[in-house]
Amino acid sequence: MTTSSATPGLALRLALRGDLLDFTGAPEWGATASPVVRFRPDHWLMIEGGRIVGAQAEAPDASWPRHDHSGQLILPGFIDTHVHSPQLDVIASYGTELLDWLNTYTFPAEQRYADVAEAEAGAARFLDALFAHGTTSAVVFPTVHKASTEALFAAAQARGMRLITGKVLMDRHAPDGLRDTVAQAELDCTDLIGRWHGNGRLAFAVTVRFAPTSSPEQLAMAGALCQAHPGLYMQTHVAENRDEVRWVKELFPEARSYLDVYARAGLLGTRSVLAHGIWLDDDDRAALRESGAQIAHSPSSNLFLGSGLFDWRAAEAAGAAVSVATDVGGGTSLCQLRSLQDAYKIQALRGERLTAWKALHAATRGAAEALSLGDEIGSLEPGRMADVCVWDWAAGPVAQRRLSLARDLHEKVFAWMTLGDERNLAATYVAGLRAPV
Ligand code: GUN
Ligand code: ZN
Repeated sequence: MTTSSATPGLALRLALRGDLLDFTGAPEWGATASPVVRFRPDHWLMIEGGRIVGAQAEAPDASWPRHDHSGQLILPGFIDTHVHSPQLDVIASYGTELLDWLNTYTFPAEQRYADVAEAEAGAARFLDALFAHGTTSAVVFPTVHKASTEALFAAAQARGMRLITGKVLMDRHAPDGLRDTVAQAELDCTDLIGRWHGNGRLAFAVTVRFAPTSSPEQLAMAGALCQAHPGLYMQTHVAENRDEVRWVKELFPEARSYLDVYARAGLLGTRSVLAHGIWLDDDDRAALRESGAQIAHSPSSNLFLGSGLFDWRAAEAAGAAVSVATDVGGGTSLCQLRSLQDAYKIQALRGERLTAWKALHAATRGAAEALSLGDEIGSLEPGRMADVCVWDWAAGPVAQRRLSLARDLHEKVFAWMTLGDERNLAATYVAGLRAPV
């Protein structure tokens, strides 16, 4: 790659050369040829003031600073719709399913974030790691501690990135140091919303850990917050693990289903992001469609924790939105390419096939639209923020050989998606600025 330094006065302009790939709409299930795939080989992506202003085949005039990534793939930065910042510390922990895994590994790691210095260092490490894995935007669980949420917001703002997060709510069934109260949680959330929600590229999510760790009173408070502040997100977990589903049934016998616990508390809306959704039924899927809530499918985590095989096709048929997430530390990598590889294998076990188009769309434009952020991120349309990643088509001789034999675009992109990982990442740009990766 050759790089020219920015000319004073034009520092906010940049032209990136490479093979541009994005989507103009949602691909159909199973279609390897799709009119919504936009592939522009050897084009220039034009960036001004942090935003994409166009794309062209001809080289820009000499006044444009440029980074030449020719022969490399340029994609919108990946969006990870469900990931836990403190859980980098427990990634790849052996031997348990969800409820044991939380008690044995995860809660002790999250207790450490009561220490503000630990939370600040962890936030910086986490966001830099996202960039180094090709992810430029995320919906994140920090911990129950207000200061750790604050640290994450501040670190995201310093990096100019789109981030959605909020203080984790849990007032029961959690160990000492990880429980809040309804009243204190409401005060903390209200203060954080006032200072961070809509501040630059940041947004607040009412963050119910999952139904078992919030009392009915706390769920009601969370629902009231969502109604009181327009534009807030809501994130939680739903129907991930069979023992968890049984526990929720015992705790909330009045609810029709696990998802219904959230619906009854007023927590389902177009800005609700529910991780997993493996053990849902048709009525739940209809409720998702009617509310506009999305499932953050977390394939790596679902395999690693032995949670189950998500029925993506049924969600799609019901009209429920599906995005893709790493769910680190249940998931074993921050790299969305690895998530998509696992997603393909889960669908294969269900007798379905996930195209590269459906997979990549769910981690870019599809996720952006499900978050009501389609006018900011997820594609290479003019007007979008210049959050983009540059990837080597192949890392190593096996991938090189396989890609050289690809007979059409889907075959090539599918082989890249299936063989690639963070070692293919060549550069990450956030709001038009190159991030150190
Ligand atoms: N359910 C409640 N908390 C968690 C968590 O931290 N990770 C996962 N995968 N599921 C959860
Ligand atoms: Zn999770």
